[in-house]
Amino acid sequence: MSGNATNGHAPTDVKLPIYLDNHATTPLDPRVLEAMMPYFTGKFGNAASRSHQFGWEVQTAVETARQQIAGIIGAFAQEIVFTAGATESDNLAIKGAAEMYREKGNHIITAVTEHKAVLDSCKRLENHGYKMTYLPVQLDGLVDLDRLKDSFTDKTILVSIMAANNEVGTLQPMEGIGKLCRERGVLFHSDAVQALGKVPLDVNKMNLDLASLTAHKLYGPKGCGALYVRSGVRISSQIDGGGQERGMRSGTLNVPGIVGFGKTCSLAQEEMPEESCRVAGLRNRLRDRLTAALDQLAINGGMEHRLPGNLNMSFRHVEGEPLMVGLKDIAVSSGAACTSDKVEPSYVLKALGLSDDDAQSSLRFGIGRFNTEAEIDYVAEGVIEVVSSLRELSPAYEAKS
Ligand SMILES: Cc1ncc(COP(=O)(O)O)c(C=O)c1O
Repeated sequence: MSGNATNGHAPTDVKLPIYLDNHATTPLDPRVLEAMMPYFTGKFGNAASRSHQFGWEVQTAVETARQQIAGIIGAFAQEIVFTAGATESDNLAIKGAAEMYREKGNHIITAVTEHKAVLDSCKRLENHGYKMTYLPVQLDGLVDLDRLKDSFTDKTILVSIMAANNEVGTLQPMEGIGKLCRERGVLFHSDAVQALGKVPLDVNKMNLDLASLTAHKLYGPKGCGALYVRSGVRISSQIDGGGQERGMRSGTLNVPGIVGFGKTCSLAQEEMPEESCRVAGLRNRLRDRLTAALDQLAINGGMEHRLPGNLNMSFRHVEGEPLMVGLKDIAVSSGAACTSDKVEPSYVLKALGLSDDDAQSSLRFGIGRFNTEAEIDYVAEGVIEVVSSLRELSPAYEAKS
């Protein structure tokens, strides 16, 4: 091998460490940074200042960004509410809709594989008398539409299902879910963070009423998000104050962040068809190399309905921690997360039916815009080398093979 992940020697076209954790966050695209720069210095006004030039010029920039963000999801600009990120958007959508429609009902449907920003918002509502249904998922990560259909009651006010999962990349049947909700007059919210700019999203085709978005998963800045709120849908604000964003979210707007968010959406809208093919090609190259060289591995989640840049694999008979230590030149996520002082297997992988051991021995590869073929080859060789050498020490692997 020309270089490997354990000795730190890489071919000249590969710079270490390699970033393959694009579901956690993405690097800022230099074109986005360039668009943002003037709004840190010369154009520093408050978008709510109506009486002078400093306010007017940034207000225009904010409205342009609102159009760019709306454009990529088929919405109207006035349906975009700016927030500080998708955690806030999820909280606002779920708690805001629950509070607003309390008279109508108190039942909400979501899925066990949602992001914690959704699940913990739902848990808090349970403490306030709301009833939740947490739908299980199938082995491929998809929710079952018949099961969803059976879960509606006359008290159901909201369904919240993510468009794409952040661990296994599963793309949910958004049009089918939206149709069921619309037929019953139930609001449909989606955490669309991972899907935005990676796969087509259309709020009208999908009958979405609320959608959470964030810039930093799409080569934009951190700390800037949005909630799409369909015109006519009302939500109770969760942050009160100056009444910005039509009273739905008070607080001075993060103008440089918003300009960057708009720019990154317009770039993604233009480049998505070509980029998603290229990224899926890299993902498939990595998958094919690993499956050709290693046995006893499993791909977590179905391949058919999946984000182009996502690969999640379990390497049986290898422990998670030494695997991550061995791959120190490669930034990936493991199937285990530290909660307080314990290492817990991922609840998403467990929901797909994985054992604790298989979940702990898994890696999430998140491939993005700036990854190259040479990097993918280096990663594949490194993973093969580390997994093979750890297995040499594993009596369990020896017994199975
Ligand atoms: C699916 C999903 N929802 C919500 C979030 C939270 O987004 P933010 O970091 O903008 O608060 C993330 C990011 O970790 C995510 O992957």
